[in-house]
Amino acid sequence: MPAIVITGTGLFTPPYSISNAELVASLTSATERWNADHASEIEHGTTAARSAPDEEFILKASGIQSRYVMEKAGILDPDRLRPRLARRGEDELGIQAEMSMPAIRQALAQAGRAGDEVDAIIVGCSNLQRAYPAVSIEIQHELGATGWAYDMNVACSSATFAIQAASDALQSGSARCVLVVNPEITSGHNNFALRDFHFIFGDACTAIVLERADDAVAAGQWQLLGTKLATQFSNNIRNDAGFLNPSEDGERDPDELVFRQRGQQVFREVCPMVSTHIKDHLRALELDPSIIRRFWLHQANLKMNQLIAKGVLGRIPDDAEAPVILDHYANTSSAGSIIAFHLHRSDLNDDDLGVICSFGAGYSVGSVVVRRVSDSTALS
Ligand code: COA
Repeated sequence: MPAIVITGTGLFTPPYSISNAELVASLTSATERWNADHASEIEHGTTAARSAPDEEFILKASGIQSRYVMEKAGILDPDRLRPRLARRGEDELGIQAEMSMPAIRQALAQAGRAGDEVDAIIVGCSNLQRAYPAVSIEIQHELGATGWAYDMNVACSSATFAIQAASDALQSGSARCVLVVNPEITSGHNNFALRDFHFIFGDACTAIVLERADDAVAAGQWQLLGTKLATQFSNNIRNDAGFLNPSEDGERDPDELVFRQRGQQVFREVCPMVSTHIKDHLRALELDPSIIRRFWLHQANLKMNQLIAKGVLGRIPDDAEAPVILDHYANTSSAGSIIAFHLHRSDLNDDDLGVICSFGAGYSVGSVVVRRVSDSTALS
């Protein structure tokens, strides 16, 4: 089997940041208004008053301090509580393709590749702006890439699932230079009107270049020692927005057409699932967890990551072992573990080992075990 290497990564960080304080101020104002509008039902006990969100709770429960977004004013407007994104014409680049391009250019520069050397593009993300044509094909056109492209969605696990698909394509020979792109506009599916959910997500885009080791020219390369994916059905993270909504009779609760979750259950069920998954993956590769230098975990909740790493290592990891980016990015869905990998790998040495791991709705979990190699030492 030819060795497959990651030869470059890129990150696009949106221009606006929203602090917890700003978010809480906006939802507090909206909540006061909602309670005033429903004062009579609340007084008669037919509906419950809504509680205002709390800044301290958000930081303590999640570790999140702020998040980046593609548009800020609409989200913070208490009368709107959702982004205000201009509709674009057919002749304009779509917003997901647009945010992908800076991340792609950075990843290609690291890989030492030009756009026309890419012959496969997989866009993996939680939400796609339209049914078709695929965002990946739009990117292929914009980049001047050849070959084929498709979009896929495994929610927060989309990047690791796409990495395995890229690796399979490279090993079979159906592609020579694959781009995986994760344009996440999670502010579009986030429910900014409910205090349980309004703080969870942020926007970002990551890109990854994968090639066969014997083709690669990049100075820094990360050999894939193995990928492992698993899924198990659960309704605990769900979003019912879909193309059949208009065909259904009766009104849907608008809260069902955006992200919702049973956070406590997700926490209880997903943490052991992910720890076991990583341990099984490392055991299959005959690698002891103690020799893993870094865990680039999905970035949803700080306590969750500490518990998962503890399940693997037997102790809480320090920041260098499991870097945190959710403090300033929040949950960027599939981009999270790749942002951590992109920002926190340059200090590792040749032969150092690491695990990229994502998990989320489905449930789904994907792990990628990597080894740092210089351009001449990748095994073939
Ligand atoms: N401000 C103040 N109080 C809030 C609040 C906010 N922004 N959000 C929720 N609360 C309240 C709840 O209403 C609840 O009040 P109640 O006890 O009166 O009902 C209380 O805080 C506890 O809520 P709970 O949801 O049980 O908190 P938690 O400790 O589980 O933390 C999450 C919530 C979402 C941070 C946490 O469950 C989580 O991260 N789970 C994992 C989810 C995840 O990662 N999902 C994505 C996977 S990709």
